[in-house]
Amino acid sequence: MLRTKIVSTGSYLPERILSNSELEKMVDTSDQWITERTGIKERRIASNDQAVSDLAFEASKLALERAQISAKDIELIIVATITGDMPVPSSGCILQDKLGAVNAAAFDINAACSGFIYGLSIANAYIKSGVYKRILLVGAEVLSKFTNWKDRNTCVLFGDGAGAVILEATDGDQGIYSVDIYSDGSFANLLNLPGGGSKNPPSPESLKNELHYLQMKGNETFKVAVKTLEQLVISTIEKNNIKSSDIKLLIPHQANLRIISATASRLGMDMSRVMVNLNKCGNTSAASIPIALDEAVTSGRIEKNDYILLEAFGGGLTWASALIKW
Ligand code: UT7
Repeated sequence: MLRTKIVSTGSYLPERILSNSELEKMVDTSDQWITERTGIKERRIASNDQAVSDLAFEASKLALERAQISAKDIELIIVATITGDMPVPSSGCILQDKLGAVNAAAFDINAACSGFIYGLSIANAYIKSGVYKRILLVGAEVLSKFTNWKDRNTCVLFGDGAGAVILEATDGDQGIYSVDIYSDGSFANLLNLPGGGSKNPPSPESLKNELHYLQMKGNETFKVAVKTLEQLVISTIEKNNIKSSDIKLLIPHQANLRIISATASRLGMDMSRVMVNLNKCGNTSAASIPIALDEAVTSGRIEKNDYILLEAFGGGLTWASALIKW
């Protein structure tokens, strides 16, 4: 049976570490509040001259090296991001040029924190239909440049980073078993970045009204996230006719340790079988799952034929899951 297989992973985190204790000096917050409410201890911040494509480039280079292929072998590049270099051209096209991936088509997708799994869904459809055999999928964000550093409700949450995977067609038993994506635009106001688009184009007024920053109704988002993700992971294992005990590792979007624990608990999974790195990275939106996946692979937490379950929830609202046999 034709399947889509992840043949390699790569990730990149900017050097600059921003700790909770530094944030204590910037806004009215505390290390204790951030740790207890989110699980985050520190996050990475891109330098002034780093854009999303720069982070994506580093992660992609690593994934290409590990797959032992040339950028010229890539047929399609998908970049999942909400913080692209600029509205046009896509960060995918900018990345294509940086990599020298001259034979690839390239585009970006916006599904916020679910972007990486949305990208998997697109890549899987292209590969299974025979259109492409080899795809580079990247989740990359520079959220720090769209963060209101005076707003304690949001500035303690986000971080920058990128993760990349190479996907190939395979006839074997390993690869993507299911990938499901969902949206509900009626909740659009829970998490948004209202400025800079055609509704609120950039203007002195949009700047004055702080429309170019990410805004989130955190508590309301939290409640919908927990409920939605609990249903999502159960339906994913049921549709694949497996038990949660069959899953070697749950790799969730890294937004909040309490959301992750609630999802794991609904599956009856001990936290030792859950990939958590938000303590070091914060919430990196579309980049969080591929960064966590790369860490899981390079630290030996996943072996051949293991089932891994990916899940995400984010702005849109969007949510998504994927079951993969490694
Ligand atoms: O990634 C995509 C989707 N995003 C998510 O899934 C994130 C979902 N939301 C969350 O993770 C949590 O809702 C937050 C971490 C954002 C907030 O935690 P919470 O337990 O929902 O807190 P809250 O928003 O209900 O705020 C509780 C209190 C408030 O004070 P009062 O009104 O009770 O006096 C806030 O003003 O905590 C206050 N607060 C803070 N205090 C210290 C909010 N932010 C901070 C802060 N430091 N950084």
